[in-house]
Amino acid sequence: MSSHGTPIPMTSHPAGPLSGTAEVPGDKSISHRSLILGALSVGETRITGLLEGDDVLDTARAMSALGADITQHGPGAWSVHGVGVGGFAEPDDVIDHGNSGTGVRLVMGAMATCPITATFTGDASLRSRPMARITDPLALFGAQAVGRAQGRLPLTLVGARTPVAVRYVLPVPSAQVKSAVLLAGLNTPGRTVVVEAEATRDHTERMLAGFGAEITTEETDEGRVITLTGQPELVAQEIDVPRDPSSAAFPVCAALITEGSDVLVPNIGLNPTRAGLYETLRDMGADLVYENLREVGGEPVADLRARYSPDMKGIEVPAARAASMIDEYPVLSVVACFAEGKTYMPGVKELRVKESDRIDAMAVGLRANGATVDETEDSFTVHGMGPKGLPGGGTAAARLDHRIAMSFMVAGMGAQAPVHVDDAGPITTSFPIFEPLMDRLGARLERT
Ligand code: S3P
Repeated sequence: MSSHGTPIPMTSHPAGPLSGTAEVPGDKSISHRSLILGALSVGETRITGLLEGDDVLDTARAMSALGADITQHGPGAWSVHGVGVGGFAEPDDVIDHGNSGTGVRLVMGAMATCPITATFTGDASLRSRPMARITDPLALFGAQAVGRAQGRLPLTLVGARTPVAVRYVLPVPSAQVKSAVLLAGLNTPGRTVVVEAEATRDHTERMLAGFGAEITTEETDEGRVITLTGQPELVAQEIDVPRDPSSAAFPVCAALITEGSDVLVPNIGLNPTRAGLYETLRDMGADLVYENLREVGGEPVADLRARYSPDMKGIEVPAARAASMIDEYPVLSVVACFAEGKTYMPGVKELRVKESDRIDAMAVGLRANGATVDETEDSFTVHGMGPKGLPGGGTAAARLDHRIAMSFMVAGMGAQAPVHVDDAGPITTSFPIFEPLMDRLGARLERT
């Protein structure tokens, strides 16, 4: 929802060893897509392990507003009676996507080729984020958008009555843009083609195939060429949402920087389009082991065991890896404070247009806690201070950004003095059980 009420200031005190098992919630990307594809299918899609964070709940409400019948049966257990491809009904009020860029962008794509009109809004963070990257390709299908300057929300989208298939080369590496175009292609006769120079998370492609769409991916000199044949009948599925590697990053990184820690984070998907952080941490010399590596539903899954790692070294994170760890740079920049030498993170301009400007949010907050951070428009560098790590003692602004709030709470666990965040409220968008889960491991989080 667009406001989460009064700010919740929180302090993370230096912690003793973190130990135990961290059962992190379901994957946010897959949770959104399960609801949206369920709503576009014929029959009843049953979902278990759904992330019940605010972002996903907003997508569930959006699907109801567009005519799907959605029921919660128990914790994480939901069903969706879909309306079929092209079957969305016109919503009778504004759709509020709260903090969620993924929610609003995917839903705009899905409705853009239906003969209905919908108006979208969100919280102050979402209303400041660029939407032209979505409405530009949707205009090629024949949809019309009227928003604020630079296409910002609130925005009204008039769906195309006779959509035409497009071939779209992504101007930015974005799974949200790719997915919006593919979802628009569903109700469009003919073949919709998306070309991406850098591989971004491929959940939409995998799930569309699982729901019965004809979709192919080809590696070419231009990059990945994804071709979807329009107007399939999507068939309802049973989906068990895997746990979120982006949420797993917080207990893993906390263990690496907190003396004596040993934490197990079971059942984490290591799809190569999502696992860049874990490769990077291992390159830095982190004691991070993939236990019980196996395949589930065609994807690599492992239990992650993370132990305190006083010997980490700063590295240059390959820019080519950026898309596969784009949401993890904030917490990586915290770990980098506890490594010996500099960690240079190039090719990350997209961080400037996330829930907050994440380069600036981390640089300012880390400096307030005694770190040295340099930044350019598309990179940042953290000067590591070795295992003694961050001095702490400062306050960071969360800027309505869940990952910024959680990163600074992790920072406090390994720091020499407590780290404060002005508002931990946004954490519920993706990780509603963060506080009790981290407390059980031995963290000392305090609402202040
Ligand atoms: C997401 C894609 C990424 C990521 C976001 C989730 C998705 O955004 O940052 O948290 O589920 O498709 P971009 O596609 O804009 O990079």
